[in-house]
Order: sequence, then structure tokens, then C-alpha cells
Amino acid sequence: MSTKPFNDNFLKACRGEAHAHVPVWYMRQAGRYQPEYRKIREKYSLFEITHHPEVCAEVTMLPIRQLGVDAAILFADIMTPMPAMGVNVEIKSSIGPVIDHPITCREDVEKLQPLNPTEDVPYILDTIKLLREQLPVPLIGFAGAPFTLASYLIEGGPSRNYYKTKAFMHSNPETWHLLMDKLGEMTIAYLQAQIRAGAQAVQVFDSWVGALNAQDYATFVAPIMNRIFSALKEEEAPKIMFGVGAGHLLQEWNKLPLDVIGLDWRTSIASARQQGVTKTVQGNLDPGLLLADWPQLKQKVKEILDQGMETPGFIFNLGHGVYPQVKVETLQRLTAFIHEYSTGK
Ligand code: CP3
Repeated sequence: MSTKPFNDNFLKACRGEAHAHVPVWYMRQAGRYQPEYRKIREKYSLFEITHHPEVCAEVTMLPIRQLGVDAAILFADIMTPMPAMGVNVEIKSSIGPVIDHPITCREDVEKLQPLNPTEDVPYILDTIKLLREQLPVPLIGFAGAPFTLASYLIEGGPSRNYYKTKAFMHSNPETWHLLMDKLGEMTIAYLQAQIRAGAQAVQVFDSWVGALNAQDYATFVAPIMNRIFSALKEEEAPKIMFGVGAGHLLQEWNKLPLDVIGLDWRTSIASARQQGVTKTVQGNLDPGLLLADWPQLKQKVKEILDQGMETPGFIFNLGHGVYPQVKVETLQRLTAFIHEYSTGK
């Protein structure tokens, strides 16, 4: 057990309660920008790291020790549960997840197996248990959302326009809904298992859902998101929703039974508030700014903090993940600045 007092600023901010300083964590806070991570990656692939709870816990802890952030995020990938569902996926360096037999028809969807977390991903649950013994900050579990997962399964890999996904969705609405149901059930079972193992908050990544307009979102995606968050409603752990370029879906997300909405840099905190977002907001520094000079970066961070601190529920984060080119020192300096600027205000 750690002798340091437990830092619960993040959980308090999720719930909109008073706290000592603005909590901060960064999406992709464990990754290639860290020399220690690159060293571990010389020996293990991403999936190999996640299959070894000790190594995986160590990778998850790296940014906690190195940056002093207020929350840890389990080190895994949104595609982690896919092999158990019968999908053959590989994470290719600098590309992302690649599938060898993309979904093209109803039969492919019917073949997808349900996830039984304790049997299929015991190593993830073991990592969570191990982390809870060591962490001085809350642990965030996570899962991919059905649309974003489906985009990989149908496109076969990363995509710019998602035209195969959109064509499939519009041409085969019944099969699409079956796919959403199967992936949604996986998301629910996986997040419940993570919470039971000790995850103190969960984030649902619907990174690419912003590619849909609000009408298609309402028809093809909103029902399953409703089902996911309704199923998790009784869980005490705060629930966070995140997507890139999804500012036009804010009203939809604000209706869901969840606690925190993650914004990217295209939607300011002030404009989310003006649009009626009452939940805690998380975000939203453009990760590109982490490569700019400190005075400009600091100015932008101050603007975000000034907007965020107007109401109690605010968590500092990036609008998307840390790039491998970012310096560790930049994130150290940024974390210290956020804590100092927001203390006692
Ligand atoms: O620190 C953390 O944020 C936790 C770890 C984490 C990873 N993936 C590890 C990873 C999390 C939360 C994810 C989620 C994830 N994975 C998302 C949603 C978040 C987002 O970025 O929008 C998505 C879309 C994926 C799919 C995926 N996996 C992509 C697009 C890539 C990037 C390709 C690359 O090489 O940059 C990956 C690979 C991946 N996942 C890496 C890491 C650390 C890089 C792996 C490496 O080469 O070491």
C-alpha cells in the first residue's frame, strides 16, 4: 500500500463536488513519448504488455510517477476484447488496429461471440486489482463504443471518411442494429467487470462518431448508447463519454445518464456551457499546442482553466491523445502549472 494520502480530486470533480485543485490527466499519457515506454516496447508488443499484468501495471503507473497526474487510465486498447469475440486484430505501429477479415454481411455479424470478461480477459481484471494496491490516484477503466469499434471492423483499419461503415449502416439497418447490440453488450459486460475489479471511473471512447450528422447519430447510434449508460446507471463509478469532432452531438450526450463529457479543442468549454451542458466537462487542449513554445501553450491553458473553473465540474485533459513527439518535460511543466494556477481559486 502507498503511504501517500489518496488523491481524490478527480472523482470529486466528476461528481461536481468541491476539490483542492483542477484535476488533470492526459489521454495516451502512457505511450511512445516516454523513453521508459519505448524501452518496454522493444521487448513486448502492445497486446503482449496487456497480457502481462505486472508489466501492464508498470506501464499504467509510468505517468503517475513521472507527471504527477490526478488519475491513471488502464493501459489497454479499445480492440483488446475483439479477439475473444472472434475478430482477428493486429495493432500496427503508427497505423492502429488492422483486421484481417472485415465485416461485409449479416453472417459476419452473427458469428461475433459475446464477451465473458472473467474467462476472456482475466489479465485485464488482474491488472486492475494489482493497480488498486499501488495507485495513489483513481483508476479509470475504459471501453470502445459500438460505432467506433464497428468502424474498424467494417473498414478493416483506420479510415478517413468511413464510407464503408456509412454505406453498411444505411443499406442494412437491421444488421447494423444487430452489430450495435452485440458490441454494446460487450461494452456493458466489459465495463461492469472492470468496475467490479476496482476501476473507480470508466470512459467510453466513441472517437470517430463525430463523422455522423446528428440525425444519423439519433437513428443508428443513440439507442445503443442509451442502453449502455442505462445498464451502468447503478454503478457508483462516474461515467465519462468522449469523441473527437463531436460538438454537434453535445445535446444528445447531455441527455444520457452519464457524469462527464469529454470535449476536443473544436468546442470551447464556454460554448458547451452555453449550449446547456450541465455535467462535468473534461478537456480540451489541442494536443498540437504541446509542441508549441511554452508562453503560447501557457496562455492557451490559462484560457481553458479560466473557462473551466467557472463551474465546479471541470477536469483538464487534451482534446485527443499525446503525440509521440511531445517531450516528457512539457507534460511535467503543464501538470504543475495547472495545479498551481487552480489551487485556492
Ligand atoms: O494512456 C492511455 O490513454 C491508455 C491507453 C490507450 C491505448 N489505446 C493504448 C495505445 C487507450 C485509452 C486507447 C484507446 C484507443 N485505441 C482509441 C480511443 C482513443 C483515441 O485515441 O481516440 C482508439 C481509436 C484506439 C485504436 C488505436 N490503437 C489507434 C488509432 C492507435 C494508434 C496508432 C499509433 O501507433 O499511433 C492504437 C495503438 C495504440 N494504442 C498505442 C497505444 C499506446 C500505440 C502503440 C505503440 O506503438 O506502442
